Amino acid sequence: MTPPRPFAIRGHSLLPIVQGGMGVGISAHRLAGTVARAGAVGTIASVDLRHHHDDLSEQSRHCRDKDELNRINLVALDREIKAARELAAGNGLVAVNVMKAVTEHPALVRQACASGAQAIVMGAGLPLDLPEMTAGYPEVALIPILSDARGVAILLKKWSRLKQYGSDGVLPDAIVIEHPLYAGGHLGAPNPAELANERFNLAEVLPGIFKVFDDLGIARGQIPVIVAGGINSHEKLLAALALGASAVQLGTPFAVSEEGDAHPNFKHVLADAKPEDVVTFMSVAGLPARAVNTPWLANYVKREAKLQAVAKADPKRCAIGLHCLTHCGLRDGIKKAGQFCIDSQLVAALKGDFNKGLFFRGSESLPFGSAIRPVQDLIDYLLTGIKCDPAAAVA
Ligand SMILES: Cc1cc2nc3c(=O)[nH]c(=O)nc-3n(C[C@H](O)[C@H](O)[C@H](O)COP(=O)(O)O)c2cc1C
Ligand code: SF4
Repeated sequence: MTPPRPFAIRGHSLLPIVQGGMGVGISAHRLAGTVARAGAVGTIASVDLRHHHDDLSEQSRHCRDKDELNRINLVALDREIKAARELAAGNGLVAVNVMKAVTEHPALVRQACASGAQAIVMGAGLPLDLPEMTAGYPEVALIPILSDARGVAILLKKWSRLKQYGSDGVLPDAIVIEHPLYAGGHLGAPNPAELANERFNLAEVLPGIFKVFDDLGIARGQIPVIVAGGINSHEKLLAALALGASAVQLGTPFAVSEEGDAHPNFKHVLADAKPEDVVTFMSVAGLPARAVNTPWLANYVKREAKLQAVAKADPKRCAIGLHCLTHCGLRDGIKKAGQFCIDSQLVAALKGDFNKGLFFRGSESLPFGSAIRPVQDLIDYLLTGIKCDPAAAVA
């Protein structure tokens, strides 16, 4: 059996596997560094990383000053990137995920570049200005996350007019296409009713993207396409590659790995969830999102209509003072968006608080069921279809 072929980003030959960025703190240095060390792409989620550092958590415990909280989070990001690069020991690629919807995204991008990130991955909004944000760091790969061919066409046309590094504009180093019907976290569809729209199906999106490439004179393979959402087996990896993808991106299966940076309770909540426990709802960021229907989420969804009816713009509603989102349903009184503080809920999940946390999860079953296994077992299974026996590994 021939193993799936590697793909390349900026001259790095990589296993065709990407660990998607997962915030808050779910993919920090340990997960991203371990995945990169194995020869794949590991991604640190940049948002609110201070919670992984006792000294920074202590410094910010009573702080409600947005600028100070952001400064502390940049220190945390710097530490996480350096630790991941060290763990990777020159293998694979260490990327940093920055959500466009986050207020501080330009500062996070610049810090990531300065601290040694090898790629910036940006979604949750069209990253039309990502090349400008990374000016001065031409060695850093740029990877937008999109969900359909239309988004790809808009982005490529805009980037092709930028003369940053020469007369031909800027090309993405890869593009992630995330299927909103299966992925965990925020979803790239305007509302929950759109999630199952056929335009997101890989068999439709990929030929659409290749046509955009052809129309713009971009050779096949010049921009690797990485597909995400519900990839949970060797067969699905092979099927994605057969459709022309260069690699697959996984979130949930890496989140529950031994090296995942979240509390063990977080991993068990995801790994033990049955298909009917995974639900979609409107996030405070104004996008649909997918998570496990834990007590906090079930209770919130019941009260959502009432909370939306009394939505009102009031900066004091950002009780933790972080003002993490440019547009926040709760703080800005946006009635059609969620009405809760997503940062507080995600941090509770990171710390393993089953009752209070918001546990993002993709819709599909996990490769090892409810077992928590090392990253290397997951990568080996994805590449070969063989699940190593954990008992044999211990013996
Ligand atoms: C717990 C969790 C947190 C996530 N957080 C982010 C995030 O901060 N930024 C982002 O671009 N994607 C985020 N995602 C999406 C993943 O990076 C990935 O693309 C997606 O989960 C793939 O689908 P899968 O979970 O079915 O593998 C998150 C997913 C999960 C499960
Ligand atoms: S209230 Fe809104 S802007 Fe403030 S921290 Fe929470 S999610 Fe972010």
